[in-house]
Amino acid sequence: MAEPATLTVVVGAQWGDEGKGKITDYFAGDSDYVVRFQGGNNAGHTVIVDGEVYKLHHIPSGVLYPHPISVIGNGVVVNPKGLIEEIESLRAKGVEPNLKVSDRAHAIMPYHIVMDECLTSHQGELAAGSTKRGIAPVYADKAYRHGIRLGDLLEPAIFEEKLQRAYKFNKEVVTQAFGGNFDLAFDDIYTDYLKYGETLQKYICDTQLELFEAYRDGKSFLFEGAQGVSLDLDHGLYPHTTSSNTVAGQMSVGTGIGLNGGRRVIGVAKAYVSRVGISPFPTEMNDDEADYLRERGQEYGTTTGRPRRVGYLDLIQLRQAVRVNGLTEIALTKIDILSGLDELTVCTAYDITGEEVREMPGSLGKMRQAKPLSVTLPGWDELTDSDVEQLCGGGYDNLPDTMKKYIAFIEEEVDCPITIISLGPQRHQTILR
Ligand code: GDP
Ligand code: IMO
Ligand code: MG
Repeated sequence: MAEPATLTVVVGAQWGDEGKGKITDYFAGDSDYVVRFQGGNNAGHTVIVDGEVYKLHHIPSGVLYPHPISVIGNGVVVNPKGLIEEIESLRAKGVEPNLKVSDRAHAIMPYHIVMDECLTSHQGELAAGSTKRGIAPVYADKAYRHGIRLGDLLEPAIFEEKLQRAYKFNKEVVTQAFGGNFDLAFDDIYTDYLKYGETLQKYICDTQLELFEAYRDGKSFLFEGAQGVSLDLDHGLYPHTTSSNTVAGQMSVGTGIGLNGGRRVIGVAKAYVSRVGISPFPTEMNDDEADYLRERGQEYGTTTGRPRRVGYLDLIQLRQAVRVNGLTEIALTKIDILSGLDELTVCTAYDITGEEVREMPGSLGKMRQAKPLSVTLPGWDELTDSDVEQLCGGGYDNLPDTMKKYIAFIEEEVDCPITIISLGPQRHQTILR
């Protein structure tokens, strides 16, 4: 009998951009498979190795090691042209991806991007401020059941049959419902996508079966979430969310691996909060504070370059992340960015029309009225680069006392251990407890 498989899931515990790429890369070297299970190229995951910066959008953040197999699971939506460019940009840096892509993953089509624009203007204040990558429309077409899957690109007759339906539907919605322009020619899409299929053919396979066999053989798996709990389609701040489920449970649906067996679920949380896009944001900082942290933390979207909105830590959000993901631990990132501040504000509850609320409400009306109830904790001194290097070599006990108190306060409030502390973007700037 093979040893039981080990399963570790890394998910965003806030609004995305928590540092999932960095934490995934940190653990990927010990994994046989590193797997994405939802989202698409709305994700932007940064990994820095030996000073080289990699920005990944579809490909899992384990790709920089030669050993693990990178898998794009069936729950992911793939822009084939974007994926080809991503593979080429890795090759240009000397990395040959060891990649498998699910034949069941849905393809983002050019008309999804047109639809994304139309939807965003139609939704006005209720829009989420999408990344314009076609994410809502591709998942909608999947649910309508006229989506195009990557496997379809390898079967020209089937592809043509399906594309006819999907093309007609999207064209009519854009022109009739939205009164928009639609200048995409059917033949161009058809021939371009068949070409993308040819290029990607060597990667496209039945990943569901491959993953099952590896699971049965006791291999180790690392699952990399995209986005974060507050962007989850069900559990997030709907409708200001993305269009996939971002929580750890989606790992089973988005890959086809069953739910039996123990697992480690790591929620990645920044030591403060950022948000790209539109939604209520109770702990958003005033402009001066936000400008300071945005510059220090380089809070600009990895995918769109948009400045991220910045706020202080929201423990209502993190408490929900612990609950709905079943987190076994938290990786706290970017704690270095808070260095040198006298005091740190942390939100422990919301005041909603006079009531103290400690758990995330599902109501948009309530979230629009939520005011943070906060405590302040003492900060720690500025850390120079050499302080950071020394701390990373020295382990948890050597961290400044006030930093350890900040960490202990969060653990106590959200009832989950913080076992990974990230003090910089590089692989080695990480402390395990
Ligand atoms: P993801 O989408 O969750 O993978 O996060 P992004 O890559 O979009 O954004 C996180 C940013 O913070 C990237 O630029 C990382 O290189 C950087 N980063 C990650 N962890 C740390 C950390 O502990 N300290 C600092 N200073 N930067 C970090
Ligand atoms: P990673 O994986 C931060 C946000 C968008 C918008 C909403 C819906 O890098 O953490 P979509 O294009 O998905 O329809 O946009 O979700 N969003 C993200 N914000 N990080 C991300 O990914 C995001 N992916 C989507 O800004 O508010
Ligand atoms: Mg990101």
